[in-house]
Amino acid sequence: MNLNKIINQRFSVRKYKTEPVEDDKLELILEAGRMAPSAANYQPWFFIVVRQPDNLKKLHSLYQRDWIKSAPIIIIACADHSQSWKRSSDGKDSAEIDLAIAVDHMTLQATELGLGTCWICNFDVTPCSELFKLPTDIEPVALLPIGYPDVKLPNKKRKPLKEIVRWEEF
Ligand SMILES: Cc1cc2nc3c(=O)[nH]c(=O)nc-3n(C[C@H](O)[C@H](O)[C@H](O)COP(=O)(O)O)c2cc1C
Repeated sequence: MNLNKIINQRFSVRKYKTEPVEDDKLELILEAGRMAPSAANYQPWFFIVVRQPDNLKKLHSLYQRDWIKSAPIIIIACADHSQSWKRSSDGKDSAEIDLAIAVDHMTLQATELGLGTCWICNFDVTPCSELFKLPTDIEPVALLPIGYPDVKLPNKKRKPLKEIVRWEEF
């Protein structure tokens, strides 16, 4: 698949087959995250791979939707605020921007491999940090279920370019 096709075929998969994800495919997805760009190349991220049933159950308790239970793997994508670049002009912390790029790399790599993913940010963050023993500076930003999709690509609803692109000035 070329990049344009991968981008268009990625969608939020909210139903997975029971089929497990092969280790070599999981490694390629993690590698795609590892290779993402980050401010000052600080790479302020950790990817916690969860696939043991007891630990998956803990995650299900943090995001109470039945569909999440079908995912054989869930990655807890974490930003490390102790290692991230901060902009000197206003102190803005780049950790979440950097992490978002890494997660997006992973979603696209998964799509290329025939796998599905779904960004989840609407989960209970504080118990997540406690249950998975995250140090203070490590923020769990997103959960990323991964598995073989049991749904078809829907029509994507997006604003037209003419609504979101401005030329030269706003
Ligand atoms: C930062 C972010 C957070 C999201 N959080 C959730 C979530 O908590 N639960 C969920 O079902 N989908 C979540 N999504 C998925 C979006 O709803 C989805 O990407 C959007 O509707 C576009 O659909 P598509 O991914 O199928 O193209 C999130 C997406 C992003 C980028």
